[in-house]
Amino acid sequence: MSDTLSITDNRTGKKYELPIHDGTIRAMDLRQIKAGPDDFGLMTYDPAFMNTANCRSAITYIDGEKSILLYRGYPIEQLAEQSDYLETAYLILFGELPTASQIQNWTRDIIHHTMLHENIKKLMEGFQYDAHPMAIFLSTVGAMSGFYPDAKQIFDKGARMRQTHRLIAKVPSIAAWAYRHSIGRPYVYPDNDLSFTANFLNMLFKMTELKYQPNPVLARALDVLFILHADHEQNCSTTTMRTIGSSHADPYSSLAGAAAALYGPLHGGANEAVLRMLSEIGSVGKVPEFIKRVKAGELRLTGFGHRVYKNYDPRAKIIKRIAYEVFEVTGKNPLIDIAIDLERIALQDDYFVSRRLYPNVDFYSGIIYEAMGLPVAMFPVLFAIARTAGWMAQWAEMLLDEEQKITRPKQIYLGHDAREYLSLDQRQEGGALETEVRGPL
Ligand code: CMC
Repeated sequence: MSDTLSITDNRTGKKYELPIHDGTIRAMDLRQIKAGPDDFGLMTYDPAFMNTANCRSAITYIDGEKSILLYRGYPIEQLAEQSDYLETAYLILFGELPTASQIQNWTRDIIHHTMLHENIKKLMEGFQYDAHPMAIFLSTVGAMSGFYPDAKQIFDKGARMRQTHRLIAKVPSIAAWAYRHSIGRPYVYPDNDLSFTANFLNMLFKMTELKYQPNPVLARALDVLFILHADHEQNCSTTTMRTIGSSHADPYSSLAGAAAALYGPLHGGANEAVLRMLSEIGSVGKVPEFIKRVKAGELRLTGFGHRVYKNYDPRAKIIKRIAYEVFEVTGKNPLIDIAIDLERIALQDDYFVSRRLYPNVDFYSGIIYEAMGLPVAMFPVLFAIARTAGWMAQWAEMLLDEEQKITRPKQIYLGHDAREYLSLDQRQEGGALETEVRGPL
């Protein structure tokens, strides 16, 4: 069987052979299909990139039918069981698990970059007390672009490495300070004797004690949650990171944009939305009524469904198990009963079964975060801390890929043909001009 696609253009009778590589044809190969000499060439129309590969990547593999998620070939279940976040971040960024000396150096490099510039603190202090921590987070990450001018040297390997260390190390500090800001408590400086997640808990929760001792079960649970969120191939925020980075903007600016994409309730904001939804439902008895409203199209069952997973999200399975380990320490979060009942009913219901809607990563993660004492507004921020490793790896992969250029999709133009400018006295009140105005305003 030949690995080409034969196309006959019925308009011209011409035949074309398009090579198929890696299960794809190149969209640019379609350009040769023209009806006439002035014809621009055939394009593809693919809103939301439902069926378009935008890059070649060796970082993360997902098989949504079989519930498989691999980072650099390693199954997520094994990493969640045996690795920790910093090691997984190294794997995602550099392609292999580190040796003993590599992890030692990597950990040291991260630890040496956890402090934030005092002027960053001042910037954060400028926010209102009730600013959403994600707004503080993404603005602060963007502002860091102004603190590290060498970030612009994106084709310098050493500079790229420095920004990678800085970003992975500093995002927990920014996140923790955003939280402390929202509750009016003094910001806590990093404690570099602690592990990555233990130090994060320290910066979140330390009070007057001289040394904060995080609960090891909670620190480990957070590590696992961070591993599960570290990368997820070409999702909305990663595509944003690549798109902004493709203009050769520095990584802080690109990452601020990626974090903004993550903020939306259809993406990383979903874990926050799940908690609000579970609290609104309020009790197990009200679950059937809620499911009825979802089926009537009044609202979505947040934390369910995924563009890629048409089966149980493997991350959701792991998170569900961790929830009970966390509850051993914190006491049970009563919302878990509502979540379990929602899942039970949904997985038996034809509406969800026929649409292949299963719990995703966000369905149970918020319940754990809440049990740990974190407010819902912090949930997308926690997602962003973990995803920083993936964003940076995807950004570097994009930059070093010789096939990549500045991202610039095409459009199908539906507007007016060229027309003459109308002076103000030619424009009629209530006339066609006014009524034809379309758009968001
Ligand atoms: N509740 C009820 N119905 C749903 C849901 C849901 N959560 N998700 C999808 N559907 C229905 C949807 O109404 C549509 O039905 P119909 O064919 O009758 O119109 C069908 O399922 C297909 O939905 P879609 O919107 O075309 O699917 P999509 O691939 O564009 O959307 C999604 C994927 C994740 C945005 C969507 O499933 C959703 O909105 N889920 C809730 C939000 C959520 O949990 N997001 C977190 C995603 S995982 C973390 C991350 O990647 O950030």
